[in-house]
Amino acid sequence: MAVTTGKGQTMWGGRFAATPTDIMEEINASLDIDRRMAAEDIAGSRAHADMLAEMGIISEADNEAIQGGLDTVAEELRNGSFPFRRELEDIHMNVEARLKELIGEPAGRLHTARSRNDQVVTDFRLWTRGALDEAMQLVAGLQSALVGRAGENTETVMPGFTHLQTAQPVTLGHHLLAYAEMLERDRSRLLDCAERLNECPLGSAALAGTGFPIDRDMTAEALGFARPMANSLDAVSARDFALEALAALSIAATHLSRLAEEIVLWTSAQFGFAQLTDAWSTGSSIMPQKRNPDAAELIRAKASLITGLYSSLQGAVKALPLAYAKDLQDDKRLTFEAFDTYNLCVRAMTGMIETINFKPENMRAAAAKGFSTATDLADWLVRELGLPFRDAHHVTGQLVAKAEEKACDLSDLTLADMQSVNAKITDAVFDVLTVEASASSRTSYGATSPVRVAEQVAQWKQRLRLE
Ligand code: ARG
Repeated sequence: MAVTTGKGQTMWGGRFAATPTDIMEEINASLDIDRRMAAEDIAGSRAHADMLAEMGIISEADNEAIQGGLDTVAEELRNGSFPFRRELEDIHMNVEARLKELIGEPAGRLHTARSRNDQVVTDFRLWTRGALDEAMQLVAGLQSALVGRAGENTETVMPGFTHLQTAQPVTLGHHLLAYAEMLERDRSRLLDCAERLNECPLGSAALAGTGFPIDRDMTAEALGFARPMANSLDAVSARDFALEALAALSIAATHLSRLAEEIVLWTSAQFGFAQLTDAWSTGSSIMPQKRNPDAAELIRAKASLITGLYSSLQGAVKALPLAYAKDLQDDKRLTFEAFDTYNLCVRAMTGMIETINFKPENMRAAAAKGFSTATDLADWLVRELGLPFRDAHHVTGQLVAKAEEKACDLSDLTLADMQSVNAKITDAVFDVLTVEASASSRTSYGATSPVRVAEQVAQWKQRLRLE
């Protein structure tokens, strides 16, 4: 089908006699993707037309006709009656062609001192700015869920792991707040990106700027940008704002994936630390006992999908000479998919965290296994008997070996067992061998004790304005 304005004229003017083939239309059209930027496209056109009128480049009457026509276009988009035409390639040409149908001649003046090259990237920056805001809000929602559950579990003791081997008892609240911290950095990366992208490319025209006496400060301000971009070649071809957003999403999704992995582990029969509610589990068609953590598994997989989207965009941009090239059209597909995927993952994770049933008894029992209080024993030998830490480490090692031999926990050894390794050990040692005592003793700033965790929960609630 020919790429026409609807009146048999191609949008590129009269130079091309042959009509593009269907395959050309198929590869060239981006409408199915960029129609998501319709609202941004209209906002950009409104700002541009106002500025053209203000500067006397078009008449007030033409501007009024354009603004009125754009009202209708916006309404048609809202109520679903907008006649999308794929043969018009993209959202920009669709909006302009419809405007022409609605208001006639003045529509043709809208594109004065503008190119689709500055138009598309203005729309795209506006869209990405909105998407970053939404993602940041969703992250805050997940943080609130984590903080809420942490507040309920400041005293719940669980095993802390290194190498996925039992290391020392920690509190569940502490563990959940670790993710709140990660997510805070994710949010701040998204915020950085939103601030850095907030410069306006509009008015850069195709690549070299324009000879019309435009006012770029005026359009930048009207669209909520901090300032116009200073170099027109850069403005039309820069996509590092999208790369940065995708990189930030990729890191943020990696954090979700780590938490998802914990949910997969914790809900297994072997761990038994938690159970997902019915709403967040799926069954098996053959094994009736199954409660599969599908959402968590999908989050784990989708994290690398987002990283793949980042890497696809990086590949598209890395060898492009200045300025615009059509390679850049696919930036939106990748970016939209990354935001859609990330936001969906955050929503699913928030739902799981809000509702997951923790199993404190199982966590506590697991925390007591694996000689998790061995460090506490060594610390006691340092504190009470004045042993150098290295010697205390050695003595504790011998006691662990003894417990292993007797197939019991450290706290099940008798005082005689203890004294056979070091005669000065007293009964008081048993006080530090419980998992509660161990967790409670770690009161340094940022540490796992219930007191410290409760303080952090209170600070988080203030920060997230939860109280
Ligand atoms: N649909 C195009 C894109 O998304 C708009 C810009 C087209 N510019 C051009 N010179 N063909 O990149």
